[in-house]
Parts: sequence; structure tokens; C-alpha cells
Amino acid sequence: MNLRITGGRIIDPGCYEGPGDILVVDGRIAAVHRGDSGIAPPGGISPPCQVIDASGKIVVPGLIDLHVHLREPGFEHKETIATGCRAAVHGGFSAVCCMANTRPVNDSPAVTEYILAQAAKAGLARVYPVAAVTKGLEGRSLCDYRELKQAGAAAVSDDGRPVLDSRIMRLALEQACRNNLLLISHSEDLSLSEGGVMNEGAAARKLGVAGIPNASESIGVLRDIALSELTGAPVHIAHVSTRESVRAIRDAKGRGVPVTAETAPHYFTLTDEAVLRHGADAKMSPPLRSEQDRLAVREGLADGTIDCIATDHAPHAPDEKAAGLSQAPNGIIGLETAFPVSLRLVDEGVLSLSQLIAKLTLNPARIFGVPCGFTVGAAADIAILDPCAEYVVDASMFKSRSRNSPFCGMTVRGRVVSTMVGGQVVFEDINRVLKNGA
Ligand code: DOR
Ligand code: ZN
Repeated sequence: MNLRITGGRIIDPGCYEGPGDILVVDGRIAAVHRGDSGIAPPGGISPPCQVIDASGKIVVPGLIDLHVHLREPGFEHKETIATGCRAAVHGGFSAVCCMANTRPVNDSPAVTEYILAQAAKAGLARVYPVAAVTKGLEGRSLCDYRELKQAGAAAVSDDGRPVLDSRIMRLALEQACRNNLLLISHSEDLSLSEGGVMNEGAAARKLGVAGIPNASESIGVLRDIALSELTGAPVHIAHVSTRESVRAIRDAKGRGVPVTAETAPHYFTLTDEAVLRHGADAKMSPPLRSEQDRLAVREGLADGTIDCIATDHAPHAPDEKAAGLSQAPNGIIGLETAFPVSLRLVDEGVLSLSQLIAKLTLNPARIFGVPCGFTVGAAADIAILDPCAEYVVDASMFKSRSRNSPFCGMTVRGRVVSTMVGGQVVFEDINRVLKNGA
């Protein structure tokens, strides 16, 4: 079915922002009509054409999440590729990059191919598998990047763990670059963070648990910047949480080092105080930090130091999170709250709406080298968003298999109305979409 999305405000970062209509034919963008007047009946295009009334909504390229954990194979009780992709499209994401810390680890073409096959079977969001940097995520021997790339890996990362050995990291950067694969760094000095449960500070002292200092992250970030500088290979810093990391990345970019960075909505929205209220549902790695760090992350977003917003969607089962703050695994889900939580940055004057959308679409696409935007002929990956709808985040709304979110109970604004991937409507909020056959 061909589609016409009419009456909305188009935000195609770097290209166009304003009123307009989008015509989708055979799963591709057939025309973008800028202005208020609406698209004339498409000459030569065979009906039927469904009309979606997007008035009062924004129409953006499908959101792209550089950093999710889909847990399959191996941890299907937390999430499967199908449930994770359902959560993705429910959150407006048409594409996600899934980390390699599955069981078995995605360190072989067989696992990469399995993930792609499961994603195709689910038929929801596009899935770009991120393969491991080292075999078994053990930090000792490099995976074969050439064969992983051939199998469909989009990047490499040992996310969940750092590559501790600097010589191995250097070789990994060189090999990844040679094979045209981006290396995503989980930057952490484990000797400083091991045994820590949350950020080092007043909240940890109040709870009587061991803390994780900012330096455990920034030492890793500074090392990886140094290695990127040494090798000339690009490095992408995952989940930036501290002011020192922001400063290090800002300086490095200023010197022309090919470093890019992401942060996640929880780091610019919450502080370690949230652990007092939400317990293990506010526990993740790196941990929620201080107010000073939260403000520095926002500054980093505003001045372009931090290129993208990724969720680090990390589902864990309720009984795992119920094990108590010290024992519970790290991670929170984020795909279904990312847009409304991030929209607060616009309300609070940190980013313009189009800057925010760029951090969720164009910037991650550029960093990963994947397509994005409403170019005629491109696959029609589109999200229709209602920036005004206000509601309270409720765990029962999640499509993810897991519920571990510190945003439950928060009043937010911004709802996903519809998500399309390759012109197929893979999610729609039937209460909010007005459609007519024409
Ligand atoms: O909080 C986190 N959870 N951080 C990571 O780096 C890994 C992730 C997971 O896999 O649960
Ligand atoms: Zn990580």
C-alpha cells in the first residue's frame, strides 16, 4: 500500500524543517512536498494510497539507536530479538545496533548471521549487529573482523567490559579501521570500579555501598583517545557519564582526533540520587553520576561534543533486579522512554528540536555509515511523533520483555504515534492515527 503522510511538520535534519507531505511508494520515499499545500495526486502512481493525517505531529526519519542489548541468543528470558525490536518500534526506532554480550558471544559469523535471521523473521526494526572486539569478550585475542564484516557486522565492541590491555586495544583499532568497522569503546578502568555498586558520593555513603569514581571512566576515555590519535583509527565512546569524559572528548575533537561519542537519556536526566528511590532499577554501568556531571553531559550535547543519544537498552528480568542493589545486574531499559525523556532537553533550552532529532537520527547514521533521511528513492523509515501528548510512564505500557526502568512514574511529554520501516507500518498508536484510503 502506498502512503501519503500529510499535514505534519517534517524534520529531516540537515535537509529540511517545515510543513510538508511525504509520499511513499513501494516502500521508498517517492516525493517530499515542502510547504502547506499538500501533495497533488501522484501522477502515474497506482492507487490505492493510504493517507495518514499527521497534523499537530512531527514527521522524522526513523530513530536510530546505536547501543542496545537484545539478549538473544542466550538470555531470552530478558529479551528476544523480536521483543526488543517491538520495543524499538514502539519507541520510534526503525533501526538498532545490538551489542555482542550474548551467549554465545557474537564473535563469529554464525552468531552474526543468526541475529540477522532472527531480526528478519521479526520483521520490525532493522538490526545492525555489533560483533565483539575480542573472542569471548575476554580481552585477549582479536576476532576476525574481515569475516564478521562479511557476515553483516556493523561495528565491533566488547561493551559490558572494557578492552583492558592497551596493546590489544591498539591492534583492535588498527584492524577494525582496516576492515571499515567502527570500534565502540566501553571505557572503564576495572581496577577502580570493580566491587563498586553505584557512583562514588553521598548517595553511596548513605546506602553504605562501595562507589565507582568518575576517573574509572575518564581514564578509559583518555586512553582510547590516545590510541585513536596513535593509530588514526576512529573510536566511538559509548555511554558518556562524567564531566571529565566530556572535557576529554571536547579537547580531542578540537585537536582533530577522530573520536565520536554518545550518551544515554538517564545520564542527562537523573543523578545518583535516583538510586535512593529506584534501587536496582537505577543501577547501570557506568553509574548515574552527580548533578555536576549531569549538567556537563548536557553541555556536551549542546556544543556537539556528544554526537548522539543512544539508549543502552539493557533488559534484565524482575527476579534478577530484585536480588538487591549490590547483587543486581547493571542496566536499564530505554527504548520506549528515550524520545519523551530526551524531549525535555528541548523544553529546557539545551537543544533545539531539530538538534535533538539529529542526535537520534542523522548523527548516529553518519557515525555508523547507515542510510537515514527523506531522500527520494531512500527506504521509507519514518517516525511520526506527537510532541505534546503528556502522560505518566507506566511499566505496563512497555513492549520490552523486561521492566527495569527508573523512569516509571515520571510525567513526560512526547509520544510515538507511528513507526514505519521500509514503508511498512510496524507500529501505530491506533488512538492517534487518522487514516483514510484514497
Ligand atoms: O548497564 C549496563 N548494562 N552497562 C553495560 O555496559 C552492559 C549492560 C548489560 O549488558 O546489561
Ligand atoms: Zn557499556
